[in-house]
Amino acid sequence: MFRSQLLRQVVRASSSPAPRAVFRAQRPAAVSSLRLFSSAPCRYDKEYSDDVDAATTSGEPGESGDHEGQHARTRDNIRVEYPEEDDLPPSQPVQGRGGFHFKRTLAAFSMEGRVAIVTGGARGLGLVMAQALVTSGADVAIVDMNRDEATRSAKGLIDTYKAENPGSDKVPKVTAHFCDVSSPTSVNQSLAEILKEHGKVDNLVTSAGFTENYNAIDYPHDRMQKLWGVNVDGTYLYAVAVAKHLMERNAPGSIVMIGSMSGSIVNVPQPQAPYNAAKAAVRHLASSLAVEWAGAGIRVNCISPGYMLTALTKKILDDNPELQRQWTSLIPVGKMGRPEDLMGAVTFLSSDASLYVTGADLRVDGAYTCT
Ligand SMILES: NC(=O)c1ccc[n+]([C@@H]2O[C@H](COP(=O)([O-])OP(=O)(O)OC[C@H]3O[C@@H](n4cnc5c(N)ncnc54)[C@H](O)[C@@H]3O)[C@@H](O)[C@H]2O)c1
Repeated sequence: MFRSQLLRQVVRASSSPAPRAVFRAQRPAAVSSLRLFSSAPCRYDKEYSDDVDAATTSGEPGESGDHEGQHARTRDNIRVEYPEEDDLPPSQPVQGRGGFHFKRTLAAFSMEGRVAIVTGGARGLGLVMAQALVTSGADVAIVDMNRDEATRSAKGLIDTYKAENPGSDKVPKVTAHFCDVSSPTSVNQSLAEILKEHGKVDNLVTSAGFTENYNAIDYPHDRMQKLWGVNVDGTYLYAVAVAKHLMERNAPGSIVMIGSMSGSIVNVPQPQAPYNAAKAAVRHLASSLAVEWAGAGIRVNCISPGYMLTALTKKILDDNPELQRQWTSLIPVGKMGRPEDLMGAVTFLSSDASLYVTGADLRVDGAYTCT
């Protein structure tokens, strides 16, 4: 079900330029030849326009050839196609970063004794964040709609841990659970299963989500509903289920919602209005629930990643080097993020290192949203 939605589209960018805006500024009927000291020159007065004006404020769209703003617009002619599920490269746990070390660090970052759920943890960013929590001491329940990959990834995390920590007296418990996070029944069933296996839950990371690219005019309504269903309802439903459990136990907890920089900016050139709105909703859901549950000791924060190079995005961009060039050119640090770049962020917000941080949005985007 909804495989096709999940296996969506990425870029087929045509080289034709964006359609010009139809807007035409009205010119004043008469233009004074005298420039009064107290008035700025009229922006449409050709007499006063110099080269700079011609290329900027005085020019009509299209007048100056390649026009300013053209790289700051979405383009309707871009179709982004995601690979079919079977063509997707599997995600692997990060190698070589998880062993015991002897560098001094704050004990508050430890997740020892905690049980964390990671939705969408079978692959991509969710898998790497699950690994960060395991490496930091937590037991983890991976929740995903892709049952097989979730099972493989849970095993992969344990195998990696064992390989990097030979002789460790305690191997973390990592389990895999099926769930469609957009379904309240499925959410409750999977949580019940997790509680049976782990006994309790202290932390939640909601990484289940997806994007797709249609211009708004053509967006099929059922797909839009599914997109919001997974990204927004799914985040909300799992957060509420875990918060209920924490309240019943009278225990503190931390919830980290994975939003996106798309919740604060509009990506270009690919059109994706519903995704952007969904991620804005996730960000504000985190703030709203942080306030609502502050009295119960439940912290809720959001991580907003920028463009991250997962196995999936790598495959898409390998097929579309022009898109990669465009994306990278907009990132001040000049490169896309690696999934590992979220390991510290998720551990910080999940652990006692951030006990007074709630309702925050932590942007991990190479300063994309600063420009
Ligand atoms: N990759 C990026 O560049 C990027 C940037 C910003 C935000 N994000 C967000 O990070 C999150 C993870 O993205 P990713 O790149 O790792 O994607 P991904 O497709 O690699 O992984 C998403 C996982 O969620 C699972 N999933 C999808 N729908 C589900 C459902 N209904 N119920 C349960 N599980 C479901 C998938 O099976 C998959 O394992 C998403 O919320 C995404 O919007 C990603």
